[in-house]
Amino acid sequence: MKIIMLGAPGAGKGTQAKMIADKYGVPHVSTGDIFRANIKEGTELGKEAKSYMDQGLLVPDELTVKILLDRVAKEDCMNGYVLDGFPRTIPQAEVLEKALAELGDNIDYAIDVDVPDENIVNRMSGRRACTECGATYHIVHIPPKTEGVCDKCGKELVLRDDDKPETVGRRLSVYHEQTQPLIDFYSKKGILKTIDGTADMRDVFAAIIQILGE
Ligand code: AP5
Ligand code: MG
Ligand code: ZN
Repeated sequence: MKIIMLGAPGAGKGTQAKMIADKYGVPHVSTGDIFRANIKEGTELGKEAKSYMDQGLLVPDELTVKILLDRVAKEDCMNGYVLDGFPRTIPQAEVLEKALAELGDNIDYAIDVDVPDENIVNRMSGRRACTECGATYHIVHIPPKTEGVCDKCGKELVLRDDDKPETVGRRLSVYHEQTQPLIDFYSKKGILKTIDGTADMRDVFAAIIQILGE
């Protein structure tokens, strides 16, 4: 099962991708998480990615594509994966399609988690992410058991650098310009499924199970 999660920044792609990964036993592959792990470790890739991410811009395709293709070539991805935050541009989608076609393979579903821009800023300002394991919470909608502390690993929860309101506005316009065209791209391929991402996260997940099967 190979799935792509589409949706604006803060739509809930990561939240749902983790639930899909748990239920269906496939790895959750998030280019944003890979970049953040590199930033934390202080690698060259991390430094380069951070200079774009902090401005709310996309990391260049050349860098991103290589990282993604290396990741999905790993053993644990042989039976499928859920991609979260990739592809984000038409060229990225084309490279992925070509790489899969060379293996006689293809993406099964592109799931668009649809949330209007008005809801996004609130989601981002309330999001808290774990510095250790990457788990995400929302101070109002999905709070941790103890404020500021990760339920899963006990480490500190922080506001992401790119979740400040001024950067969120930029990320949204980059999304509309460069990523939204993918909705049309996958619709034409007949694999697009659109779900209402404004519902409670459990209801959003129920809609996804309807698509993927029990
Ligand atoms: P990335 O990490 O992918 O960020 P993003 O797409 O901007 O998406 P987010 O992670 O912010 O949101 P999400 O949809 O995962 O929402 P979440 O589940 O956390 O990318 C970061 C940066 O890396 C990019 O800006 C770019 O620079 C770079 N990058 C990454 N991939 C790239 C690529 N392929 N090409 C080029 N550059 C790339 O939910 C958000 C909040 O809402 C949380 O607080 C959550 O708890 C809450 N929430 C979730 N669901 C619900 C619900 N149903 N109801 C209420 N609250 C909810
Ligand atoms: Mg995410
Ligand atoms: Zn944690």
